[in-house]
Amino acid sequence: MPRDSSMVLTGTTLQTPYAEAYRSLRANINFATIGVGVRAILVTSGASGEGKSTTVANLAIVLAHAGRRVIVVDADFRRPRLHQLFTTNGHGPHAQGVDGFWQRSEEGRPTAGLSALIAGTATFAEVAAPVEGCDNMWLIPAGVIPSNPSELLGSPQTRALILDLRDRTDVVLLDSPPCSLYADALELTKATDGVLYVLKSGPQGLVDHLRIVRQLQQGSARLLGIVMNQAEASAGHYGGYRGGAPLG
Ligand SMILES: Nc1ncnc2c1ncn2[C@@H]1O[C@H](COP(=O)(O)OP(=O)(O)OP(=O)(O)O)[C@@H](O)[C@H]1O
Ligand SMILES: [Mg+2]
Repeated sequence: MPRDSSMVLTGTTLQTPYAEAYRSLRANINFATIGVGVRAILVTSGASGEGKSTTVANLAIVLAHAGRRVIVVDADFRRPRLHQLFTTNGHGPHAQGVDGFWQRSEEGRPTAGLSALIAGTATFAEVAAPVEGCDNMWLIPAGVIPSNPSELLGSPQTRALILDLRDRTDVVLLDSPPCSLYADALELTKATDGVLYVLKSGPQGLVDHLRIVRQLQQGSARLLGIVMNQAEASAGHYGGYRGGAPLG
């Protein structure tokens, strides 16, 4: 299976401006979360391909490097991808040799994951894989794709699970599908403390970001900020961050 993990930070890219931008994001998040008990952070975007999964992966890496214990959850049942970014087959930046650990589907997806944890048919120890090269970091893949992702993610069982994960670690980072297409991320705001909204810079499509951000803010999670992804080089960095306030 082709792997696309080139944008995931590795030991050799940790000193680049690209990595520095994620450290700035980490600093902004630390600032936005001090004293307010934000531990479960949902990463979402309006449209697909804006950089949610890449943001989750790289933010997790820089948080773990700063000594935080991080559980990364692939809550994108529509296009689960984190198991590819933290590769397990001896390829990629975070090969972890856990082939005996996860059973895999024909497409190479781990079959035990978030859906089994929510259903109570697997335990944390059975599905959370330690990520090699990043002490204090675990990955929970999506697992078997449920027939009703948004209902499942909005269920009391999901809320209970995320509360449990919060108790196990310093930060729980959740990937999710785009808000303009699915209600999944909106449902997840019931179970998370904060939301990071990823916005790919450049000419925008028809997605109404302002409306989506306002919708996300109606949940119990607070909007931690907007990550401007793939900003122009003139910005000096990979991207920028606008904390706290909604767009506009
Ligand atoms: N800062 C960046 N610089 C360059 N390429 C990037 C950056 N962020 C993401 N990409 C690339 O853009 C593509 C989409 O990124 P990613 O998969 O993270 O988006 P996504 O929002 O999770 O997509 P989906 O909605 O399909 O889940 C990938 O090929 C990724 O490598
Ligand atoms: Mg993704």
